[in-house]
Amino acid sequence: TIDNLKGLKQGRLRIAAVTTTKYFMPRILGPFCAQYPGIDIALEVVNRDRLIDRMIRNQDDIYIMGVPPEGLDTESESFMDNPLIVLAPVAHPLVGCKGIPFARLAEESFLARERGSGTRMTMERVFREHGTPLRIKMELGSNEAIKQAVAGGLGLAMLSRSTLNLNPGQEELAELDVEGFPILRAWYVVWPKGKQLSVVAATFLEFLRGHVQLFVRGQ
Ligand code: PGA
Repeated sequence: TIDNLKGLKQGRLRIAAVTTTKYFMPRILGPFCAQYPGIDIALEVVNRDRLIDRMIRNQDDIYIMGVPPEGLDTESESFMDNPLIVLAPVAHPLVGCKGIPFARLAEESFLARERGSGTRMTMERVFREHGTPLRIKMELGSNEAIKQAVAGGLGLAMLSRSTLNLNPGQEELAELDVEGFPILRAWYVVWPKGKQLSVVAATFLEFLRGHVQLFVRGQ
């Protein structure tokens, strides 16, 4: 029977994923593990720079990240949306304003992830591309700490919408309607080019190609 065939897919799947994916990876791994009970998971959650280090050392089967690395010979496939948004505390004067010019953000202080984070890299690139100065008031090592600091009125942030729950207002957060936002990006699954994927890794890749978006609330 089909159930017996699924039982044959056995072994350990080693995944390394960037920190921001911790908000949705469990929602994907839950149904995956239910479907393939013989597969055990080792999930490393690290920032972008550390993930690229792991990739260079070939420490995992498969990698999940925002922007596939340049200069490394990899194959990648997008599997889910990853919109980048501007986040403010609910009481901020810009909340509810339509089409806020990007240049207006120069007047605000920002809370930023640590260097080495993919979110930080993208945020700096977006400001650079607009020629708008970025004022970083505070650097914090986690998305969760940034959300709390934004809610506490310490500044604005640019984060993946994946970090928000369905009702950001409950966390005293609001998404600003800034020109050009949300920036539409994707989450990618990445593996070294030419690497023969293990049966479990190939099974997971096939699973990601399916309707993964359906498992993840709010996407
Ligand atoms: P980060 O990466 O969790 O290191 O910020 C996010 C990304 O790759 O987009």
